[in-house]
Amino acid sequence: MSQFQDAGVVVTGAGGGIGAALARRFAAGGARVVVNDLDARKVKAIADETGATAVVGDASAIVEEARAALGGKVDVYCANAGLASPGDAFADEAVWAAAWDVNVMAHVRAVKALLPDWLERGSGRFVSTVSAAGLLTMVGAAPYSVSKHGALAFAEWLSLTYRHRGVKVHAICPQGVRTDMLTAAGSAGELVLAPTAIEPEDVADALFDGIAADRFLILPHPEVAGYYQARAGNPDRWLAGMNHLQQKWEEAGR
Ligand SMILES: NC(=O)c1ccc[n+]([C@@H]2O[C@H](COP(=O)([O-])OP(=O)(O)OC[C@H]3O[C@@H](n4cnc5c(N)ncnc54)[C@H](O)[C@@H]3O)[C@@H](O)[C@H]2O)c1
Repeated sequence: MSQFQDAGVVVTGAGGGIGAALARRFAAGGARVVVNDLDARKVKAIADETGATAVVGDASAIVEEARAALGGKVDVYCANAGLASPGDAFADEAVWAAAWDVNVMAHVRAVKALLPDWLERGSGRFVSTVSAAGLLTMVGAAPYSVSKHGALAFAEWLSLTYRHRGVKVHAICPQGVRTDMLTAAGSAGELVLAPTAIEPEDVADALFDGIAADRFLILPHPEVAGYYQARAGNPDRWLAGMNHLQQKWEEAGR
């Protein structure tokens, strides 16, 4: 029997891409799934396909509705909804605020609503779709990179604070994944992400492998571990390499 048979699972931003792949994988394992998205049409289509329940709305405020749909108990919460938030130091304040709200605060708000029950039961699993940009950075996307570093920092903090009390945390940190978000990333996505892009199903595979191995950091692109080490080991050399990529992007016309 699958580990998630009858488990109550919530996936935010599940109208397509990585969220839809996660929802399909949990549903295939016998979980009772709630799929959430701002896009009602897309999320209802995924719900119909997988037998999940659709909850339409902002990922920041859906825990209670999702919990009710699952009969009072959320076992796994996948904070996956995200904004691509491109821009540089001149990006509008509203772009920074939205990136912070969706990529970080939605996770904090969900955890606030989930933790009392998880601590009482001594069990719960929080899956954060971060990005390799949360470990490294992303050319041309300051609000995205900064907010994803925040998402990773929150996931780390959650894991270290509650792991002895039964709360499991996973941070998924892929590079390019072939979804609408990659298409919307434009020329920077094309240069940096597209050449090694993987499918959303590969991300779901990596998560399930990581769960089986009880690993916090989920790296669907294993080479990211080396980049992360290189960054920590020699920040100036790493920044010079990233600047080389920035210059390549500028030369290509951005
Ligand atoms: N595609 C990539 O290359 C890539 C790489 C690394 C990390 N990620 C991360 O993966 C996650 C999923 O993105 P994706 O690539 O599947 O893109 P996607 O555009 O296919 O999916 C994102 C979904 O989130 C929804 N969404 C946005 N704001 C929301 C909100 N406030 N409440 C509810 N839903 C909301 C969108 O409607 C969309 O359906 C994001 O957090 C993204 O940052 C993507």
